[in-house]
Amino acid sequence: MPTHDDIFETGEIFRDRKLVRVGHVPELDRVVGRDDEIDLMGSALAPAVRGGPPETTIVHGKTGTGKSLVTRCVTREAKRHAADNGHRFAYAYVDCSDYGTEAQASRQMARELHDDLDGVVEERSIPRRGIGAADYRDITWELLAEGDVDAFVIVLDEIDKLDGDALLRSLSRARESGKADAFIGAVCISNKIEYRERLSERVDSSLQDNELVFDPYDATQLEAILTYRQDAFAEGVLADGVIAKTAALAAREHGDARKAMDMLYEAGRLAETERADRVTEAHVDDALTRAEINRFQKLVSGQTPHVKHILRALALLTENADRRKFRTAEVYDAYQRITEQAGTTPLSYDRVQRLLKEQSFLGVTESEYTGGGHGEGSFRVHRLLRSPDVIAQGLDAT
Ligand SMILES: Nc1ncnc2c1ncn2[C@@H]1O[C@H](COP(=O)(O)OP(=O)(O)OP(=O)(O)O)[C@@H](O)[C@H]1O
Ligand SMILES: [Mg+2]
Repeated sequence: MPTHDDIFETGEIFRDRKLVRVGHVPELDRVVGRDDEIDLMGSALAPAVRGGPPETTIVHGKTGTGKSLVTRCVTREAKRHAADNGHRFAYAYVDCSDYGTEAQASRQMARELHDDLDGVVEERSIPRRGIGAADYRDITWELLAEGDVDAFVIVLDEIDKLDGDALLRSLSRARESGKADAFIGAVCISNKIEYRERLSERVDSSLQDNELVFDPYDATQLEAILTYRQDAFAEGVLADGVIAKTAALAAREHGDARKAMDMLYEAGRLAETERADRVTEAHVDDALTRAEINRFQKLVSGQTPHVKHILRALALLTENADRRKFRTAEVYDAYQRITEQAGTTPLSYDRVQRLLKEQSFLGVTESEYTGGGHGEGSFRVHRLLRSPDVIAQGLDAT
């Protein structure tokens, strides 16, 4: 009888996988490559560390550039420093993608503040419903008074998902309107560049003290970030060059630390499923291909079978020829053969031409109009923007 003792054996690849999982908030000294941003955010909060008013900061930049992480680390650190100086600094972190209405965000602000003041204010329950955004803000002011807070900083992450400005407005006016004695500041984070302009139209200038832009990471920074997290793997498991290679690929593709860590984690998982002793550069290549296949699958998942046949036709042509660009007629011939094999009736030539042209297939292909040589007239050519291998494997799996 076969035994299944080993199905939960994971081998010796990982030591502490949470280090390469998203959501882990490392200590400030483990945050690499963001020294300037940390300094600038630190100076915005510095007055509050000494009992004065924190400056409000708007943070933006592409996804995975460390905005949330740096903000969380610096506010946590500011609280410690303020306490050392004998000042009470409190903060609340609200992710507006989870709490998108004014009422939800205001409630979450009150709850976070309540938790942050654990042991300082009396324990109370904050009603889940039945009261409005303004009531939750009143609870917040009460908590600030009861906790004798000198400075309060609210972090509004993904603020572009918040459905109004009432919260920001009332925060910026709470002191002058006599609702709160504490100095209040905000850190507003967004990865939507357009948000910056919308905000300045809507909210008064008191909320625009500082602006902080986070750039994508370069290969050196990503390498440092990944190196700091290599303890996720058992000793000696990562082959030389694996981190450098992951960092280089990630920098070339996006400069996103989250995706870079995912890639390294995936490489580790591939090594694990193969029961290999080491994670090699080949595993990194495979992890990248898999990520591409996944992304491609998501793109085409809602498409009709014919769109998929057309893409497969282009993939077959690309694989079997030593060029990358194909005329519509060539794609149509290959497409017809595929529909034959699939036992379906092909769409008309015109329809296929339109499909190819119309959407350039969601960024999967590119079409252009070229003048053919030697009196051939001009015609349209199509080219795959991913490797035919990724397309074929992705289509097989849908
Ligand atoms: N400088 C860094 N050092 C160490 N880890 C980092 C660094 N920057 C980012 N990370 C890690 O990468 C992941 C993504 O970072 P973060 O969540 O801060 O990105 P973000 O800019 O807020 O992205 P988004 O716009 O998608 O919210 C997190 O797991 C974070 O811990
Ligand atoms: Mg974020």
